[in-house]
Amino acid sequence: MTMNSYSKMTAAEAAELIQDGQTLAFSGFTPAGAPKDIPKAIGARAKAIHAAGNPFQIGVMTGASTGKSLDGALADADAVLFRTPYQSDPTLRKSINEGRTQFFDMHLSMAPQNIRYGFLGPVHYAVIEACDVSPTGEITLTSSVGAAPTFCRVADKIIIELNKFHPDSLRGLHDVYEPEDPPYRNPIPLFRPSDRIGAPVVKVNPKKIVAIVDTNAPDETGGFSEIGETTARIGRNVADFLAAELRRGLIPKSFLPIQSGVGNTANAVLEAMGANADIPTFEMYTEVIQDAVIKLMKQGKIQFASGCSLTVTNAALKDIYENLEFFRPKFLLRPQEISNSPEVVRRLGIISINTAIEVDIAGNVNSTHVLGRNMMNGIGGSGDFARNAFLSIFTCPSTAKGGKISTIVPLVCHLDHSEHSVQIIVTEQGIADLRGKSPSQRAETIISNCAHPDYRGLLRDYVRLGGSGHSPQTLSAAFGLHEQFAKTGDMRSVDWASYH
Ligand code: COA
Repeated sequence: MTMNSYSKMTAAEAAELIQDGQTLAFSGFTPAGAPKDIPKAIGARAKAIHAAGNPFQIGVMTGASTGKSLDGALADADAVLFRTPYQSDPTLRKSINEGRTQFFDMHLSMAPQNIRYGFLGPVHYAVIEACDVSPTGEITLTSSVGAAPTFCRVADKIIIELNKFHPDSLRGLHDVYEPEDPPYRNPIPLFRPSDRIGAPVVKVNPKKIVAIVDTNAPDETGGFSEIGETTARIGRNVADFLAAELRRGLIPKSFLPIQSGVGNTANAVLEAMGANADIPTFEMYTEVIQDAVIKLMKQGKIQFASGCSLTVTNAALKDIYENLEFFRPKFLLRPQEISNSPEVVRRLGIISINTAIEVDIAGNVNSTHVLGRNMMNGIGGSGDFARNAFLSIFTCPSTAKGGKISTIVPLVCHLDHSEHSVQIIVTEQGIADLRGKSPSQRAETIISNCAHPDYRGLLRDYVRLGGSGHSPQTLSAAFGLHEQFAKTGDMRSVDWASYH
C-alpha cells in the first residue's frame, strides 16, 4: 500500500523528536513485535546528551518484556526513568535492582486499562512495529499485539517502525478488540479460543502518525536450552497429572484450553503433553505462543492457539511465514487485555500452568523476587490466569543454585499468588494437590511430594516448631532458610534450635 502522505525518517531523525522526561509506549510483547532501530537510536541520543552533561531519561511502557535493542539499549544508556509492566533484560534488571530505574509490576491484562484510565500519566509517543500501514491509518501489526491498540489510542503522536522482515500478508492474523471503559463495559463476546471478535488492524487517525522508519530486522527472541532431566520430569509430572484428572472425569473429555507460561519449563510441559497418548488434541488460550506449540500444531495435537505474541525462535517464525496458509486458520493474536482477560479465562475454563521462583508450605507463590529484594522479571500474566483458572498449576524445580536453595520454604519472601489462587504444585519430585486441604494438610502434602529430600526433614522440623493454631507458622523463624542462605550461602545449614 502507498504511504506517500507519511513522513519517512531515519531512526536517528525519529529519535531527535523525543525529549527528556517524555513517556513512550512501545509495541511488542516479549521481543516479538517490539521496535528495534528507534529505541537503539534513542539510546544513542541519550548517551550523546549525557556526554554533553545534560539529562535525558524517558518513561517506558510496553506490552511485556522486549528485546535487547529496546530494554537493553535504553538501560545501557541509563535512559529509563520508569518502566512498566514487565521486563526480562539483564541490563535493565540491574538498573531496577540498583534503584536507577523505577519499575512497577502490573498484571498484564490490567496495563492497557490503567493507561487508558490515565493512572500512569500522559503518553507522548507510541512507537509501533508494523508490517503495513495504509494511507487511511490502518496499521497491520507484526508478531504480537500486546498493548499496541491502547498505546495508539492514548498517545499524542505515533511513530511507525515499518519492518519488512514480516510479510504484509500477516493481515488477518490479528484480532484487535478493545473493551469499553466502565461504567458501560459490555461482556467480551468470546466463547471459544478461535472466536474472532475484532478488527484485523489497529485503526488510527493518520494525522497522528508523524514518522515512518523503514527497517528489516528479525525478532530478538532467544532460543531454548536443551531440556534437562529436572525440567523433563516436571513436564512429565504435569502431563501425567492432567491425564489422571481426565480419567477421573474432573476434566471434560473434550479437554480444556491450556495456558502455559514462558521459558524452558513451559516448553517442556507442552512437549510432555504432546507425548502423552492419554491427552487428547487440545487448544491453547494463552499469552505467549512458544516453539512447542508450533511443533504440536504440525503434529495435529494442538488444534488452535489464541495468544498475544508469537514468541518463537527465528527458525520457527520462518517456518510459519513460509507456510502461512497452513497456520493462518490455527492462530489468532489478540491484545493482552483479551488474551489474559479474567472474564474470558473464567468463562473458557482455562488450565493454567505457570512457573514459580518459590512456593511456601501453605501454597503461596513468589514468581518475581529473589530473596525478597531483587526483581527477576515481574508477575506477567500469571496472576490473570492463576486467579481465574479452572485449574491453577504452578511448577518449579525443588531446588535452585545446585541444591543450596530450597524452592519450597516455610513462608514466601514475596507474595504474588496467594494460597487461594494456587491448586496444584509440581516439582520434579512430584505433585501436591492442595484442593480441599487445610493449611497443615497442605504443608504435609507439599513437603512430602514436592520438596527435595535434602529439605524434607528441615521443613518438617520447622512445622514442629509451632504449637497449635490453624496455620503451622512460627513468625520468628519463617524466613530462617532465607536468612541462612544470606549468611552462609546454603539453606541446608539452618539450625532451628536458634529460633526457639
Ligand atoms: N531463590 C533464588 N534464586 C532462584 C530461585 C530461588 N528460589 N529459584 C530460581 N532462582 C534463580 C535460578 O537459579 C536462576 O538464576 P540464574 O539465572 O542465575 O541461573 C533464575 O532464578 C531463573 O531460574 P530458572 O529456573 O532458570 O527459571 P525460569 O527461566 O524457568 O523462570 C521465573 C522462572 C519464575 C523467573 C519465570 O517463569 C517468570 O518470570 N515468571 C513470572 C511471570 C510469568 O509467570 N509469566 C507467565 C505468565 S503467562
